Amino acid sequence: MELIDAIRQRHSVRQYDARDIEEDKILLLKAKIDELNAEGDLHLQFVEDAAKTYNRLFNRMSGLGSAPSVIACVGRDDASLDQRVGYYGEKLVLYAQTLGLNTCWTGTFNRKNLNADVPEGERLVISIAIGYGKDQGRGRKAKTKEQVSKVLSTGAEWFDKGVELALLAPTAINQQKFLIKLLPDETVEFVDKGGVYSQVDIGIVKCHFEIGSGRKQTPG
Ligand SMILES: Cc1cc2nc3c(=O)[nH]c(=O)nc-3n(C[C@H](O)[C@H](O)[C@H](O)COP(=O)(O)O)c2cc1C
Repeated sequence: MELIDAIRQRHSVRQYDARDIEEDKILLLKAKIDELNAEGDLHLQFVEDAAKTYNRLFNRMSGLGSAPSVIACVGRDDASLDQRVGYYGEKLVLYAQTLGLNTCWTGTFNRKNLNADVPEGERLVISIAIGYGKDQGRGRKAKTKEQVSKVLSTGAEWFDKGVELALLAPTAINQQKFLIKLLPDETVEFVDKGGVYSQVDIGIVKCHFEIGSGRKQTPG
């Protein structure tokens, strides 16, 4: 499956089947995590047993308590960490989608119960629930291209395609509080308009924009 198709098919899934992820897929996920950790200087971890990570009332009400496994998004704590987590974490989310798995970025979870390795100098930013969904999730409301982008140069087709896929990026509480600017010198600027986990959102948006536009983006 192409990553563009994975983007179009992905929706947040909060209700999971009881079945565990197969061993061969876990190995593939771990290999991808190793690759992304090396590239992004991160410490993403696959935690096979989500245990009581999602036992908060809000999680149980949404169904997330049924997630069998979880990705702990950990990394060296510096100013770029949240964006790096968003950018590389979303690459992992899309890879999982190509394996037929479902996911949900989850900022509200029980940190104490997530069995992650967080050494001195590192920080656990967020979690990603992962497993086989009861369904594939559903589409949701999105802003328009005009609401999230500004073209300060002659419009370019690659920019338009990048924005189109950026609108399909998951953001915390579907806030989509970002602005993507095409500057007169044809460079692209991502503006963080605030909100919870907004820097993680920007990293995710950069990942989608890169896939849509075909132009490499750098988190941080
Ligand atoms: C940084 C971040 C944090 C999120 N936190 C939660 C959460 O705590 N609980 C939850 O149910 N969904 C959470 N989500 C999922 C968003 O609600 C979801 O991505 C958004 O509504 C858009 O829907 P979609 O992912 O299906 O496109 C989070 C998403 C992101 C990107």
